[in-house]
Amino acid sequence: MFKEKKDRKSNEMVVTPWEVSGTIDYKKLVKKFGTTLLSEKEISALDKYSEGNLHLLLRRGLFFSHRDFDWILKMLEKGVKFSLYTGRGPSGHTHLGHLVPWIFTKWLQDIFDVELYFQMTDDEKFLFSQKLSFQETRDFAYENAKDVMAVGFDPKKTHFIFDSQLTSTMYKIAVEVANRVTFSIAKAVFGFVNESNIGMIFYPSIQAMPCFLPSELKGSNVPILIPAAIDQDPYWRITRDVAPKLGYYKPAAIHCKFFPGLAEGGKMSASEPDSCIFTTDTPNNAKKKVMRSYTGGRATVEEQSELGGEPDKCNIYWYEYYLFEPDDNKVNEMRSNCLAGKLLCGQCKKILAEKVKQFVSDHQEKRSKFTDEMITKMIIKE
Ligand code: TRP
Repeated sequence: MFKEKKDRKSNEMVVTPWEVSGTIDYKKLVKKFGTTLLSEKEISALDKYSEGNLHLLLRRGLFFSHRDFDWILKMLEKGVKFSLYTGRGPSGHTHLGHLVPWIFTKWLQDIFDVELYFQMTDDEKFLFSQKLSFQETRDFAYENAKDVMAVGFDPKKTHFIFDSQLTSTMYKIAVEVANRVTFSIAKAVFGFVNESNIGMIFYPSIQAMPCFLPSELKGSNVPILIPAAIDQDPYWRITRDVAPKLGYYKPAAIHCKFFPGLAEGGKMSASEPDSCIFTTDTPNNAKKKVMRSYTGGRATVEEQSELGGEPDKCNIYWYEYYLFEPDDNKVNEMRSNCLAGKLLCGQCKKILAEKVKQFVSDHQEKRSKFTDEMITKMIIKE
């Protein structure tokens, strides 16, 4: 369906909206994509806006790169508010890796008190999947939307775009975008080939559309900030090229790295169910998955005491680091005790397993408050 996976070296870095594999070198990726690392300037501005409560995901660097976020801050200083835009491809149940950018997006919504436009790309996941029916992706869109709302977004300021329920304004924007992107550009950016179906080729204009929708709905230009994993950046490159031709601002983006899975290396991926904590797992099952996780541990207790563990390779460590242990002293202590061989993997797993179990159970309780009808009310219909 895409360009052949030529004979790649076994751990060659591949990052596209459809595939993330190999050893990821984020510095190289930023260069390749032409984005900018977040600097002290943007981070201290966020620190100020959050009154010293910088989000862990930012403080510890999971969010690390951007396009024009400095411009978003400048506009704010001038009194021009932005809107947030992010989304989800509903190809299955939600897992912890999906929640991470949403948790950060909610934090942004809270500190800036802004609108969020959330796109459910049930069309994309149907067009790009060989396995899912359109009805299945449409159903998952509702299920996933409940997970989105369980993260705590303000229902009055959160608007869903369901691609299978596009409005005429949305379609009009998508067609204006499509009219300005050639097949050769789409091929170069996304790697489409003759065998790609024609829905796939049109699809990027659908993902670009929400960048301009708030401006159309409000009747004046609205700056857009997109928090998303960096693999989505190719879409924003195309969108940013088209924006001035249509008289809109270029969307800004703030990018995160991929959240690790529980298996060795790689990101959390739904295609490897044991590597993921799903929001539909029972809390006990989630706990078990953590207990079975890959760590940076040595083969035996003796070896571990002698050589120390390898926290940089350890999923348990990264979970604590990015999400579950806000206390810097505790994280540093965990790291140094692990390196010194004073901490065994079983102990770390147990601590995290309890936290994950609690997290899943809390999430499920919040999620259970949302029904299909409530989601339907939040879908933009005109
Ligand atoms: N293509 C994304 C996915 O497969 C879904 C998506 C649509 C998205 N619009 C977005 C993700 C904006 C982040 C930001 O998951």
